[in-house]
Amino acid sequence: MGTRIITVSNQKGGVGKTTTAVNLAAAMAGSGLRVLVIDMDPQGNASTALSIPHSSGTAGIYDVLIDGVPLADVVQPCPQVPGLSCAPATIDLAGAEIELVPLVARENRLRRAVQSYLETTDQPPDLVLIDCPPSLGLLTVNAFVAARELLIPIQCEYYALEGLSQLLKNVDLIQQHLNADLHVSTILLTMFDGRTRLASDVADQVREHFGDRVLRTAIPRSVRISEAPSHGETVMTYDPTSTGALSYAEAAAEMRRTKEMS
Ligand SMILES: Nc1ncnc2c1ncn2[C@@H]1O[C@H](COP(=O)(O)OP(=O)(O)OP(=O)(O)O)[C@@H](O)[C@H]1O
Ligand SMILES: [Mg+2]
Repeated sequence: MGTRIITVSNQKGGVGKTTTAVNLAAAMAGSGLRVLVIDMDPQGNASTALSIPHSSGTAGIYDVLIDGVPLADVVQPCPQVPGLSCAPATIDLAGAEIELVPLVARENRLRRAVQSYLETTDQPPDLVLIDCPPSLGLLTVNAFVAARELLIPIQCEYYALEGLSQLLKNVDLIQQHLNADLHVSTILLTMFDGRTRLASDVADQVREHFGDRVLRTAIPRSVRISEAPSHGETVMTYDPTSTGALSYAEAAAEMRRTKEMS
């Protein structure tokens, strides 16, 4: 069975992309899979959450995209979670959005790096999760071209659906011109508060539109989830019995059931 490659994206900021990428990654690694997180956001939040050094000058995804450094040279193991590794993002990546523009095959650079990594590494990961910045620029385009699946985290609030049509339009363009395999495989409702009418209404609309691609598990708002990154941990190790950790574990289990992975 090949490696499953999933990009986590939503151009809306602060909807739980990074939280979802790192916690699903930790949950999947916890259940025995080998998982690689690729941090495509200059903010480096996924790298921080996984305790991966990413100060300016550290070899990271910038070097892979701009200088063609092999992905294997920048991947680091996550200290808390066996089986989990991360290609970190440094602040240098902020410049890549512009520096990529004149480069050859500028949309395909991450895809090529990932493919040659998968072909050459001794133990290829079962799953690659790519965390995107909150924009639809060239970094996100690279993440869309490198993946087969798109996971969209949606925060159930009033404006949640407004940017979605633009995101889906971009996915269509990518499908037509750059990556015919890309499809929206998974929607995850995040920071969900089932007690509010608004959250339930938005959730209903999302389910109506995306059907069974919406995971039945919604991630509740949880203080433990938001505390974990300041300890350089995912909630899966920071407080494994908290409701937040259990819900990410359940979401991961659902994702494994829908597509058989080894
Ligand atoms: N289920 C949750 N419960 C409570 N807080 C959460 C939850 N999910 C995420 N958060 C918090 O909300 C904030 C935004 O989450 P996160 O960084 O994952 O979003 P993002 O979409 O990656 O943001 P950006 O667009 O800046 O990359 C963070 O402070 C995070 O800790
Ligand atoms: Mg983020």
